Amino acid sequence: MAFKLSGVVPWGRNLREYRDMFRLTEDDLQKRIAGFGDGPASFNRELTEHGGSVISFDPIYQFTKEDIEKRIGEVRVEVMEQMWQNKDNYVWTRIKSLDELENLRMSAMNRFLEDYGKGRAEGRYVYHELPDKLPFEDDHFDIGLSSHFLLMYTALGYDFHIKAMAEMLRVCKQIRIFPIVDLDANKTELVDSVIGHFRENYRVDIVDTDYEFQKGDNKMLMVGKGR
Ligand SMILES: C[S@@+](CC[C@H](N)C(=O)[O-])C[C@H]1O[C@@H](n2cnc3c(N)ncnc32)[C@H](O)[C@@H]1O
Repeated sequence: MAFKLSGVVPWGRNLREYRDMFRLTEDDLQKRIAGFGDGPASFNRELTEHGGSVISFDPIYQFTKEDIEKRIGEVRVEVMEQMWQNKDNYVWTRIKSLDELENLRMSAMNRFLEDYGKGRAEGRYVYHELPDKLPFEDDHFDIGLSSHFLLMYTALGYDFHIKAMAEMLRVCKQIRIFPIVDLDANKTELVDSVIGHFRENYRVDIVDTDYEFQKGDNKMLMVGKGR
C-alpha cells in the first residue's frame, strides 16, 4: 500500500530530548548514528551542527518541504487539542505548560524544515520505509535510534517489529528504542514478545532514562550485538 502523508502525524523532538530519551553521551554523539522514523525532528540538524555523523530515515522524506510543512499545519491544532484533553497523563515538570510544549515542538519542526533541502542534498535525510532493506552494508552504523515510532504503534504487529528491528540490527551494532509503552503509556505484550525474540541472539537491556513526559514512559530498550 502506498505511504500517504495524510496518514502521518508529523511531530518532532530536539537534540536535547533525544539525548535524554536515549541516554546519549558525548562519546555516543561522536559515533555513526542512524535515526529511524526521525520525521520532522531537529535532532539531525542539531547533531550535524554539533559535528556529529547522522543519517535519518523516514517515508515522509519522499515529500517536498512544502508538503510536510502543510501537513504539520494540519495536525498542529488536532494534536494540541488531544494534548489538552489528556494533559493529566503527562508530567509537567520540565515542559511546564501546553504553550511551552507547542513552542518547543514548532521550533524543532521549523529547524528541521529550514535544514531539509540541504540535509537531503547531503544524504542526511533518506526516504526509507521500515522494514525494507536499507542501502548500507552490515554494521555501517554504531547506534540506531527509534523515537516514538517502534513499539508504540502496536497495530503494526509482531512480524513488522521483528523484521524492522532485524534490518536495523543488520546495519547498526546496537539499537535503542524509546518509549517502550504504547500510545496510552501502557506496557504491552508486544514488548515482551519482541524482547523474548531478540534475547535469543542479542544482548537486550531495559534502561531507565532521563526523560519522562507521558507518565510511565521513562524506559528505553537497548538491543546490541555481543553479550
Ligand atoms: C511520531 S513521529 C516521531 C518523530 C521523531 N522520531 C520524534 O520523536 O520527534 C513517527 C514517525 O515515524 C515515521 N514512520 C511511519 N511509518 C514508518 C516506517 N514504516 N518506517 C520508518 N518510519 C516510519 C513517520 O513518518 C513519523 O515521522
